[in-house]
Amino acid sequence: MRVRCSRRDFLLTGAVLGAATFIAPREELRGQTTGTAVGPKPAGVVRAVSSANGLRATDRAMELMRQGTDPLDAVIAGVNIVEDDPNDMSVGYGGLPNEDGIVELDASVMYGPTAASGAVAAIRNIKNPSRVAKLVMDRTKHCLLVGNGALKFALAHGFKKENLLTDKAREAWLKWKETMSDQDNWLPAQIKKLPEDLQPVMMTHGTINCLAINEAGVLAGVTTTSGLSYKLAGRVGDSPIIGAGLYVDNEIGAAGSTGVGEANIRTCASFQVVEFMGQGLSPEQACLKTLERIADKARRWPKSLGLTDAGGRPTFGLNFYALNRKGEFAGATMTGRSTYAVHDGQKNGLRDCAFLFKA
Ligand code: GLY
Repeated sequence: MRVRCSRRDFLLTGAVLGAATFIAPREELRGQTTGTAVGPKPAGVVRAVSSANGLRATDRAMELMRQGTDPLDAVIAGVNIVEDDPNDMSVGYGGLPNEDGIVELDASVMYGPTAASGAVAAIRNIKNPSRVAKLVMDRTKHCLLVGNGALKFALAHGFKKENLLTDKAREAWLKWKETMSDQDNWLPAQIKKLPEDLQPVMMTHGTINCLAINEAGVLAGVTTTSGLSYKLAGRVGDSPIIGAGLYVDNEIGAAGSTGVGEANIRTCASFQVVEFMGQGLSPEQACLKTLERIADKARRWPKSLGLTDAGGRPTFGLNFYALNRKGEFAGATMTGRSTYAVHDGQKNGLRDCAFLFKA
């Protein structure tokens, strides 16, 4: 039997009571990145919400929004700090590579007032894919560019090709390659168990998502990642998929995700979080109800995917972050303890995520 957090019963009750209370009238939309808010009069709040690795991102986004920077440019500038950081091995420069030892990055952006989006997937040699995603939104008629086409597009806009593989990431990849099988010709330097400090970088799904709202009620979001470490070349995760790794609706709110992208893509989960908020659920209720939906669907997924235990309970990590038009926010995780970053206009800090299952 599943063990759930005690708030679940309240959550489901709230879902029924709160349904259909939060849909706002539409307004005419013009321009692609003008900061026109849509929907009910905004509450005048300013917020930045991110995954736990985004504490510097929320701080920077808030600083920029206070100076009048548009929320989308503000969150992109925030996550650029993490993309540039060689010590975050889940995003941008220094991210863990694919199975061939090549770093491939995914990113998406979405802008609430225009419902416009842009994304790049499996892009190589460009350390700020979030900025390229914004250009796909602003300077093409498309939503998503991949691989070599995304790289060509970035170079056309003046981005410089860089080697994104740091020595630390290369050594982690080499250890993985040398120890993953005894059926190949690779041998580790010493045939011993991996040192403790290399264990956590064996397989990861780290990512950064950052959402923001300004005083004018403009909502925006970005998600950027190096994706699943040691993935097959060309594998694309949820981060650049609008509706999976990110979704923003200026009439309702914004949601983003980190964790196992395949679980998220199969369930269009960030879109689902926003839709639940549109039905009147709070951000926390919306995230938890979405996680519950995913857990129920996961029971049907093939056991060979390794995403569920013998009882059908999810074994994968998945987090959602949500921010509504009133400035209410939440983070929620599938299992156990997790944190997320928030700048609430007063202070910047990590908060506990709600959870669906106890560890
Ligand atoms: N959520 C990141 C990925 O699975 O690629």
